Amino acid sequence: MTEVIDGNAVAAEIRSDLQDSIDALADAGVRPGLATVLMSDDPASETYVSMKQRDCDEVGIEGIHVEIDPDAPAEELFDTVEDLNADPEVHGILVQMPVPDHVDDRRVIRAIDPEKDVDAFHPENVGRIVAGDPRYRPCTPHGVQKLLDAAGVETEGKDVTIVGRSNIVGKPLANLLVQKAEDGNATVTVCHSRTENLAEKTRRADVVVAACGVPEMIDGSMLSEGATVIDVGVNRVDADTEKGYELVGDVDFESAKEVAEAITPVPGGVGPMTRAMLLYNTVAAAGHQEGVDVDLP
Ligand code: GUN
Repeated sequence: MTEVIDGNAVAAEIRSDLQDSIDALADAGVRPGLATVLMSDDPASETYVSMKQRDCDEVGIEGIHVEIDPDAPAEELFDTVEDLNADPEVHGILVQMPVPDHVDDRRVIRAIDPEKDVDAFHPENVGRIVAGDPRYRPCTPHGVQKLLDAAGVETEGKDVTIVGRSNIVGKPLANLLVQKAEDGNATVTVCHSRTENLAEKTRRADVVVAACGVPEMIDGSMLSEGATVIDVGVNRVDADTEKGYELVGDVDFESAKEVAEAITPVPGGVGPMTRAMLLYNTVAAAGHQEGVDVDLP
């Protein structure tokens, strides 16, 4: 029987453990604060940000939300980030990506105080991950590591093939999984749109992580028997539903499930973990900035 890894359940457990850390911070007079900034009218981005704000409310993190007209000058976003950097009640800042074309996203990432960079996108935080001394782990890769751990899948000595080389998922996950660490020690292959013989690389993997943004690209024929499959993709595809679309991953779930030993569904796999790990980083950020030692799950 293939195990369908329940991301909602694992995320709920992490959130429940985080609650203890938030209570400990409250005893020290600290309420973690997370600012989300949205400069987009993309419905998916709007939904993601509102879910992140709802998560904050539920666990007792102070959520601050700033919306900027997507047609406004870029400086409006940079001024906002500067204000949030200086605000002592804000411990974490997340600018939802993508930002409009007239805004330089690399400048946005560099503008955020690295101590408040709960996405771990700032070059200082990326460098620390590569050097094996992370301040924060980026939310989705960290969520993938926690899911593998919860499913009892050890990465030590295993072949992991990541399909996708984004700065948000593929590259940081590869860096985390090769680290000499209990939840690392893997042999990692990173594939992308120019990779030749992709199926050869996915078939030799013990763990396949699909993060390429192409609906249902990885199917059962590309996997070896007994592989673990982590699907990071969230793609809206036209469908005869009330909303006119449905969500599918980067993995063809039905055919992959026939071959895999364990697999994450979409939705309900990686998505809830990304959100939980954002809360985790916000709690960590509050602890660092307020000088309070917090136990993290
Ligand atoms: N857009 C898609 N994923 C993310 C993420 O993890 N963080 C931010 N800031 N924007 C995103």
